[in-house]
Amino acid sequence: MLVSAKEMLDKAKAGHYAVGQFNINNLEWTKAILQTAQECNSPVILGVSEGAGKYMTGYKTVVGMVNGMIEELGITVPVALHLDHGSYDHCYKCIEAGFSSVMFDGSHYPIEENVAKTKELVAAAHAKGISIEAEVGSIGGEEDGVVGAGECADPNECKAVADLGIDFLAAGIGNIHGKYPENWAGLSFETLDAIQQLTGDLPLVLHGGTGIPADMIKKAISLGVAKINVNTECQLSFAAATREYIEAGKDKEGKGFDPRKLLAPGAEAIKATVKEKMELFGSVGKA
Ligand code: 13P
Repeated sequence: MLVSAKEMLDKAKAGHYAVGQFNINNLEWTKAILQTAQECNSPVILGVSEGAGKYMTGYKTVVGMVNGMIEELGITVPVALHLDHGSYDHCYKCIEAGFSSVMFDGSHYPIEENVAKTKELVAAAHAKGISIEAEVGSIGGEEDGVVGAGECADPNECKAVADLGIDFLAAGIGNIHGKYPENWAGLSFETLDAIQQLTGDLPLVLHGGTGIPADMIKKAISLGVAKINVNTECQLSFAAATREYIEAGKDKEGKGFDPRKLLAPGAEAIKATVKEKMELFGSVGKA
């Protein structure tokens, strides 16, 4: 059964570890992540971007697929199905479709509007027992080949959004989505520390988990990060394993073409990446 992400993240914050959010794109990714979580006895959050939701034909299909897999794979660890970087409208769509958690990314609005919309969505999500993440300070990333620097959130704005009753907060601390540029300045632990001082027990979220060195991940966890999002790293390991399989000519063996065999090495690579992250984040055995 799907669960809200609140309880698993409150426990993670209190226990000084983080739960991984791994983004899904199709059946193979979802199955690989769920099986790894079960094998590691770790709670897990499946992230769905609006684009991935559309690709998988819509949020109802995603909910049906994940619920079916939890039952038929015998998954007993806590699993949350979470909208990643949702717009206002799509948060409502996911709340209706049966997601157990949503992120409202109002970071591009003026703070007053971010606060007003977040407040409304908190009420809508909580009325259905769904957890909600909000964002303050935009998280950089690559757009049209240019890598934007991650902004640092204003700790007072974080406090204002935290006070709306959200369940966890994504605050920009210089982190970015995708690969980090050579000249990346690193995470701002000073900002993270100031945010935690003001927001207390609220679990904090670190986006852009791909490519952050292990020591920085551990330090971020020690300063209140209880959820870490990983997407690009699974994409890279999936692509590399698939490429290797094709370049070795293995896709031509046997019947010549079998989509299940073609996608299997990529799925195995995702399992290895997810396991490595769960070990680094400290969530193994915490289900
Ligand atoms: P990466 O793609 O950098 O791993 O970031 C994932 C993320 O933060 C999704 O919200």
